[in-house]
Formats: sequence, C-alpha cells, structure tokens
Amino acid sequence: MVPSEKRKFGRVDLDVTAVAFGTAPIGNFLKPISESESSAMIDTAWDAGVRFYDTAPMYGHGLAELRTGHYLRWRPRDEYVLASKVGRILKPAKRETINFAPWADAAPFTMQFDYTYDGTMRSFEDSLNRLGVERIDVCFIHDIDRFTRGDAQPEVFEAAMDGCWKALEKLRNEDVVKAIGVGVNEWEVCHEALKRRDFDCFLLAGRYTLLEQEALNGFLPLCQERGVAVTVGGGFNSGILATGAKPGAKYNYSAAPEAIMAKVAKIEKVCAEFAVPLPAAALQFVVAHPAIPSFIAGTRTVDQLKQNLVWFSHTIPKEFWAQLKRQGLLREDAPTP
Ligand SMILES: NC(=O)c1ccc[n+]([C@@H]2O[C@H](COP(=O)([O-])OP(=O)(O)OC[C@H]3O[C@@H](n4cnc5c(N)ncnc54)[C@H](OP(=O)(O)O)[C@@H]3O)[C@@H](O)[C@H]2O)c1
Repeated sequence: MVPSEKRKFGRVDLDVTAVAFGTAPIGNFLKPISESESSAMIDTAWDAGVRFYDTAPMYGHGLAELRTGHYLRWRPRDEYVLASKVGRILKPAKRETINFAPWADAAPFTMQFDYTYDGTMRSFEDSLNRLGVERIDVCFIHDIDRFTRGDAQPEVFEAAMDGCWKALEKLRNEDVVKAIGVGVNEWEVCHEALKRRDFDCFLLAGRYTLLEQEALNGFLPLCQERGVAVTVGGGFNSGILATGAKPGAKYNYSAAPEAIMAKVAKIEKVCAEFAVPLPAAALQFVVAHPAIPSFIAGTRTVDQLKQNLVWFSHTIPKEFWAQLKRQGLLREDAPTP
C-alpha cells in the first residue's frame, strides 16, 4: 500500500490520501511537542505525499489549528484537503485562569461547548481565521458521543442535529465546505446521526481497528450503500496497536486492560509467524474497507511518522489475514487488503 495513494472521499468531489496527518499531538496532547518537531512532522508528511490534514479547535485550545495553518501556509491550497471541527468556541483568556488538561502548554483560549446554529457559524469562522484559509474542505461536528459527554449526550446530540446541521448544510450550499459529518469515538452515534441527517462523512475514532470491528454491524454497510466516507482516527487504539502489548501500553487513552493486552498478544503471535509488524497490519487493515478512504495517524515525532509510512507500505501476505480469521482474532466479514 502507498501512503500518498489518492482515494475518493465517498460521494463527495474530493480525493484524499490513504494516510492522513492527525494534529491532536501537535496540540500538545499530554506532553508538549516543540515548534521545530511539529513543523518537521508536517514537512515530512508533505514530502511523503500526504495531502489530508485533520485538525480541530479543541486540539490544544486552538494550538493545533494555529500550527497547522502556519506550516501549510505557503503550500498550494488546492493540493491538500483540510478537515476541522465545530462544537466548541474559543475565547482569549489569561493563561493562569485556564484549565488546560489534558493539553500541555496549549494556546491561551478557554473552550466552551456550543452546538447552536450561531455557535457553529462562529466556530467555523474562527477556525478559518486560526488556520488562515478561505475554506475548510471537511467539517465534522465534534464529540457528541457518550464517551465524551456522558449523561448530557442525548441532549447534546439533539442540539447538534438541529443547530450544527442547519449551519453546516448552509455552509455546504455556499461551497465554503465540501463535506459535512460527525467526529466521535462511538460508531453507534455515527449510525444514529446518519439515519437522522444526510451526512457526507464521519470521523470514527478507535472503533474500527485491527482490535475491534463492531462498526460492521450496520453502520459501515449503510455508509457503503449511501456513498458516505468514513475516516478512521485512533486507529492504533491510542497506542497499543503501534507499541504491542507491552507494559504501559495505551488503549482508549488509558492503561490497556488485561483482556485487550491478551488479545493483542495473540495477534502479535500471528504477526511473528508471518514476519508482519503489528502496526503495519493495523494501518493496512483499516483502509481495506471500501467505505474508508484514509487512516488518520497521530504521531509525536518525525521518527514515528517515518516509521508509520514504512509500515503502511510493508507487504503483507494474504494468508496472514486468513490466519487471523481462522483463530477468531478478526471478524469473518471484515474486508482485508
Ligand atoms: N473525536 C474525533 O474526531 C477524534 C478522536 C480521536 C482522534 N481523532 C483524530 O485522529 C488522529 C489520530 O488519533 P490519536 O492520535 O488519538 O490515536 P492513534 O493514532 O490511535 O494513536 C496515536 C499514538 O500512537 C503512538 N504511535 C503512533 N505511531 C507510533 C510509532 N511509529 N511508534 C510507536 N508509537 C506510535 C503514539 O503514542 P505516544 O504519544 O504515547 O508516543 C501516538 O500518540 C488525531 O490526531 C485526530 O486528528 C479524532
């Protein structure tokens, strides 16, 4: 597989690359990343032909959008696809008054959820300004899932299906955005949203990976039927599929539970049998689904990024996938490369 391969973004008139650059880490997620490392990562991605960049107001309280816009500023705008999100409004404030967790040394803005029509328009325009661009190609409604919003989720979901939807549909009609969708950590919420509104795309984080494929229960088939593009973030399940089941491995942004460690260890045995690096399988598996054009990879260093590009191109024998299925480690109905 080739990271720079152009793939159709569902029914939308957009082509994206098979590997996309995820900007949550350059929002200083958990630990700061220097300006030089952040910019070197975007340069490395660009030089490898990566032309799809995913950001959000939330990532580092605006820092990831500021950095992404800055590093991409002099690249030809028609050569890359830019995705960002709505659902939070940022307001300038004194650093010492802001609770940045889980971000480290983020930008000096407070964040407030807002899924109203006016809030969505404001969020979108603020993103254009932070990024320094005249359009955002793909816009997701961010974090309207139970994982993020807990008990408030049903109310938040309804507000987004009304306010955000109306605003984004207007922006799509005006051609300032080409594709509109939802970006969350639960496939069930994506499924519900698709039944309610005519979304073009989804960003599904962590819920269609080498470890878990429940999104095949109705959601991904419906996307295929309707020409809806699904981009996958969190495709390493936040770490364990990149590092393997070793002490300190992360799953869903926390220490991996025993059952997950055990399953990954079993997958690693099959990997060893076929001389396939676990992360190579994790990367290539996701984009084998016909509804999934891109794997949005999050990296903390240039070395991690370079390594991922190599893993993405690693040749994997067909028998490897068959063996995973035989051992019950991969769903029978999961498409494989
Ligand atoms: N709701 C949403 O819309 C949503 C949610 C989540 C993600 N996303 C998008 O998806 C992107 C990626 O997701 P993610 O970063 O959360 O999760 P991820 O891709 O599953 O995991 C990224 C982490 O895996 C580790 N990793 C990556 N490459 C590695 C390598 N070569 N060697 C060793 N470790 C490696 C790094 O962990 P360490 O940091 O520990 O080194 C890195 O931070 C985000 O940047 C964002 O654009 C969107």
